[in-house]
Amino acid sequence: MKLAIIGSGMIVNDFLTMIGDIPNIQLEAIVGTDRSSDKMELLKNKYGIRQVLTSYEECLKNKNIDTVYIALPNHLHFSFAKQAILSKKNVICEKPFTLKSSEMRELRELALANKVLLLEAITNQYLTNYKKIKESLKAIGTIKIVECNYSQYSSRYDAFKKGEILPAFNPKMGGGALMDINIYNIHFVTGLLGKPKKVTYLANIEKEIDTSGILSLDYGDKKIICIGAKDSTAPIRTIIQGDKGAIIIDGPTSIIDKFTVIDNQNKSAVVDFKVHTHRMYEEFIEFERIISDSDFETMTKHLDHSEMVMGIVDQGLESAGITLG
Ligand SMILES: NC(=O)c1ccc[n+]([C@@H]2O[C@H](COP(=O)([O-])OP(=O)(O)OC[C@H]3O[C@@H](n4cnc5c(N)ncnc54)[C@H](OP(=O)(O)O)[C@@H]3O)[C@@H](O)[C@H]2O)c1
Repeated sequence: MKLAIIGSGMIVNDFLTMIGDIPNIQLEAIVGTDRSSDKMELLKNKYGIRQVLTSYEECLKNKNIDTVYIALPNHLHFSFAKQAILSKKNVICEKPFTLKSSEMRELRELALANKVLLLEAITNQYLTNYKKIKESLKAIGTIKIVECNYSQYSSRYDAFKKGEILPAFNPKMGGGALMDINIYNIHFVTGLLGKPKKVTYLANIEKEIDTSGILSLDYGDKKIICIGAKDSTAPIRTIIQGDKGAIIIDGPTSIIDKFTVIDNQNKSAVVDFKVHTHRMYEEFIEFERIISDSDFETMTKHLDHSEMVMGIVDQGLESAGITLG
């Protein structure tokens, strides 16, 4: 894969510490605005990236680049992905895919029409420990309740309270607790249970954005609560309760370092199939494979999942009266 990295913010700095461990990915370019050129130059030298580009157009014309990794504020995902697809580049787009499901569907149609691969970078779907949780569900019987709590006080909330609205809290840029943090919980739950019957989002809204909230997913015979907060903190934990036992994950649903299965007699077993210390390793191993094999069948399965999640986001935001973009 001949990759151009779009953006040089927090996630790119994190991603670059891991990507050297994956064979067959050449870092052809890092792309951003003029204001980031010094930062990008430093990253280029540190990680052996071939070139710094301050023009996205130039990146999309470059024949040595076959794939872009879009790691920009959420409101830019759609337009940057669309331009890339129309230039026949494969796209790996950070979560949340887009601000609304209609945009995601448009990208999907365009990708198929242009015969390029389109993938959402959402860590948990690719983690071996997540696959092991799926396999372990039968041990806990019929699922009744799931509670996911991903609450992490954000330093950006301090700035927000002082009136400095950074992208993660900006409704115009697709910020908010649901899009930034609770979305991992939605991917986690729906990857296990599929599409819920009913979605409701109870949000704490300040300055037109959800700083925290509780998303309920009603499956009829099981009830799910996904909590995401950037304005307060709590133990970050997920519990899946069945009639024969429970699965407990300490830590965010984006990482899943290990998990514990307990039965109704309180006998417990810890399961840990972690493949790499970095949560993004397994997704990028698979992205590289999907792209080099032109595996449109697997891409379609992942897009079906992402589309379901975007539909839930639409319903959640609508039920809370939040408009993004
Ligand atoms: N997968 C994960 O675990 C994970 C974790 C965190 C974030 N994310 C996702 O990754 C994305 C980026 O998040 P982040 O925390 O890295 O954000 P960030 O630190 O704010 O960085 C955003 C980057 O986008 C660049 N940018 C902004 N406007 C641009 C434009 N018009 N053209 C080109 N570049 C532009 C910024 O450059 P300037 O400074 O020059 O504006 C900066 O390099 C978000 O979608 C977020 O949801 C994923």
